[in-house]
Amino acid sequence: MSSKLVMWDVIMVFLFGLWVGSGKASVSYDSKAITINGQRRILISGSIHYPRSSPEMWPDLIQKAKEGGLDVIQTYVFWNGHEPSPGQYYFEGNYDLVKFVKLVKQAGLYVHLRIGPYVCAEWNFGGFPVWLKYIPGINFRTDNGPFKVQMHKFTEKIVNMMKAERLYESQGGPIILSQIENEYGPMEYEIGAPGQAYTKWAAQMAVGLGTGVPWVMCKQDDAPDPIINTCNGFYCDYFSPNKAYKPKMWTEAWTGWFTEFGGPVPYRPAEDLAFSVARFIQKGGSFINYYMYHGGTNFGRTAGGPFITTSYDYDAPLDEYGLLRQPKWGHLKDLHRAIKLCEPALVSGDPSVTPLGNYQEAHVFRSKSGACAAFLANYNPRSFAKVAFGDLHYNLPPWSISILPDCKNTVYNTARVGAQSAQMKMVRVPVHGGFSWQAYDEETSSYDDAKFTAVGLLEQINTTRDASDYLWYSTDVKIEANEEFLKSGKYPVLTVLSAGHALHVFINGRLSGTAYGSLEFPKLTFSENVMLRAGINKISLLSVAVGLPNVGPHFETWNAGVLGPITLNGLNEGRRDLSWQKWSYKIGLEGEALSLHSLSGSSSVEWVEGSFVARRQPLMWYKTMFNAPAGNTPLALDMGSMGKGQVWINGQSLGRYWPAYKASGTCSECNYAGTYNEKKCLSNCGEASQRWYHVPHSWLNPTGNLLVVFEEWGGDPNGIFLVRREIDSVCANIFEWQPTLMNWQMQASGKVNKPLRPKAHLWCGPGQKISSIKFASFGTPEGVCGSFREGSCHAHKSYDAFQRSCVGQSSCSVTVAPEIFGGDPCPNVMKKLSVEAVCS
Ligand code: GAL
Repeated sequence: MSSKLVMWDVIMVFLFGLWVGSGKASVSYDSKAITINGQRRILISGSIHYPRSSPEMWPDLIQKAKEGGLDVIQTYVFWNGHEPSPGQYYFEGNYDLVKFVKLVKQAGLYVHLRIGPYVCAEWNFGGFPVWLKYIPGINFRTDNGPFKVQMHKFTEKIVNMMKAERLYESQGGPIILSQIENEYGPMEYEIGAPGQAYTKWAAQMAVGLGTGVPWVMCKQDDAPDPIINTCNGFYCDYFSPNKAYKPKMWTEAWTGWFTEFGGPVPYRPAEDLAFSVARFIQKGGSFINYYMYHGGTNFGRTAGGPFITTSYDYDAPLDEYGLLRQPKWGHLKDLHRAIKLCEPALVSGDPSVTPLGNYQEAHVFRSKSGACAAFLANYNPRSFAKVAFGDLHYNLPPWSISILPDCKNTVYNTARVGAQSAQMKMVRVPVHGGFSWQAYDEETSSYDDAKFTAVGLLEQINTTRDASDYLWYSTDVKIEANEEFLKSGKYPVLTVLSAGHALHVFINGRLSGTAYGSLEFPKLTFSENVMLRAGINKISLLSVAVGLPNVGPHFETWNAGVLGPITLNGLNEGRRDLSWQKWSYKIGLEGEALSLHSLSGSSSVEWVEGSFVARRQPLMWYKTMFNAPAGNTPLALDMGSMGKGQVWINGQSLGRYWPAYKASGTCSECNYAGTYNEKKCLSNCGEASQRWYHVPHSWLNPTGNLLVVFEEWGGDPNGIFLVRREIDSVCANIFEWQPTLMNWQMQASGKVNKPLRPKAHLWCGPGQKISSIKFASFGTPEGVCGSFREGSCHAHKSYDAFQRSCVGQSSCSVTVAPEIFGGDPCPNVMKKLSVEAVCS
């Protein structure tokens, strides 16, 4: 060998060492997977949107995501939060994107950065700043010059910021993937040629920014190379990318669904979510992202829709408050471990598929080095299946997939939940001396001093530019003394048509009625008798926006506010049209102009105390001071006694509240088995869509916190309470012989040579202990956590073991075997253990 060559090798080794040492990696992809430094990876990701929590919560959320088995954190970038007015950028507080990305890196996880900048996300205006709409000649998300200039500018700004901080993986940072646009495919389909041109432009623009990592476009079948098109949905196993050399990726596996004011709260059973993920992986998928992993909160006026609630909990594995949602979090964690055990076989190539029955299949992955992993699926939503695979038999529950990382032993079945479940409670926190409220009447000073007038009715968003939810429309109506209704008492009917979203009608200063729409029908009609008197009457309409739309063709052009017609019926003249007379306008509330939500603003006016507070008047501001409770359990405000409005702590808005809007719909019992959609499993029917409003700890000072409420309707502030969110009880629901990873590991390591019995593990929250056993039955118990009941078969000593090992402890484990519960209560019957333990 020539010495030159040797020298060359030495240099290469040295350079390689430098490159590895600097933590830089190359990210690419092939037909199977995203590759990092040439290695194919099965990547598990989860969405956590940084502005939907507080920076103080971020490390804990990321840590819990890591413990839950995630490799990647995915987030959108929220343009309207970062550029509130043109060229004025904001990257602080919960918009500190760089800090968020760095925290993910510190935790050793990757980032998938979805820049959009259209994000949908149930976020106000889909993430677009409202000022964007007023750029001359602009047309959103199509082949439009002014739009493309702005989109390019913002995307480049973010990319450059990430580069400057060396946050791309190619620079040693955590970002391995980016996204441009969001679900543009359906939109392109609708608008045709200009849509296609825009897609090409967006792809070129993004790739041209040279991030060094791949870009994806979700729900975009014609994503131009080298961009990977990906799938979003409740299931994505059917999906294949548009080119054979792109990997099969699932950018939004919906863990639940969002809530709208007036709607019930959707949830998705963990068994079905796990089934959908296992199904995706067994069909060759290699990247899955949970949307949402932590949903969080739409603070302030960031909720979109319209009518999206302040809570964006999403039934995600981490709940709105950042606590583990069990059993979902634990069941997915177990799934991720099972998948990772299969990784060597999974990344080797496509599986071979064999039918095992009418609704049963085996997917088998083999690597050249001999690794073998199998997924056994039973798609039948109604019955168990006993299948033969290899030289063994397997019992598959309905609608489930078993995972066998060695093609022999089951370590996991998607319908067998080994993780404990937890029931949460909201406990009142004693605030020293209680809240003592003072009131300020918005009504008295507000709608009389209009700011400008116009002939006819103005569209609301064009008028307010979304600076406030509120727009006053007022006009005078002259009633002659000879009007018939003045004698008969049959008052005329005022009819107001509004494009949305809510409307309060005041006649001569008194609230006469309210009307509101919904997410599906934002438009509303108010039509009620109104008490007019002879002479001049003042009709004042307070039109209220409840978040701007975030999805749909050209949603930026959708109207809000009172567009009319407005008519009075039942006068001597019959019907009078008020739409085209002179109207006076006022943007926003008096209290908003005075900044009553802030410490300084609130001390600039006279507040009143005492009985006035309990009068349940509309358009009232309330304030009180309080000291922060000790401890760090998550906090919320119970707003159950209130109507509709907004609430602030120390000047920061917790969001819009609207507990008076009750959830309509039917909440029937929901079986995990069978195809899921967002209407299948619902809760809260007949109750407030949202009663509790998250108070981040970091917003509080030890003493002297200012709580301000603006109430539109006439709620009672004396019913507002500070509450703590804690575990109420924990449950386990374990079948005998249920597969566990532990069992498999013990066998694989040769420590045992026959299957072990599973264990029921229970643990309460930090600082809590198990105080009693509410239920325990080994046999054929029925029901779910919180409402278990005995079945026809019950071991008489079911409680004893739990009383002994659990009560007084913060956690415990009990083996699920007949001898532990006093013997087999019903031989030859498949038994399980259900237990519920109270935490306090
Ligand atoms: C998707 C969209 C997300 C979110 C989701 C529903 O289609 O990409 O941003 O809106 O729907 O929660």
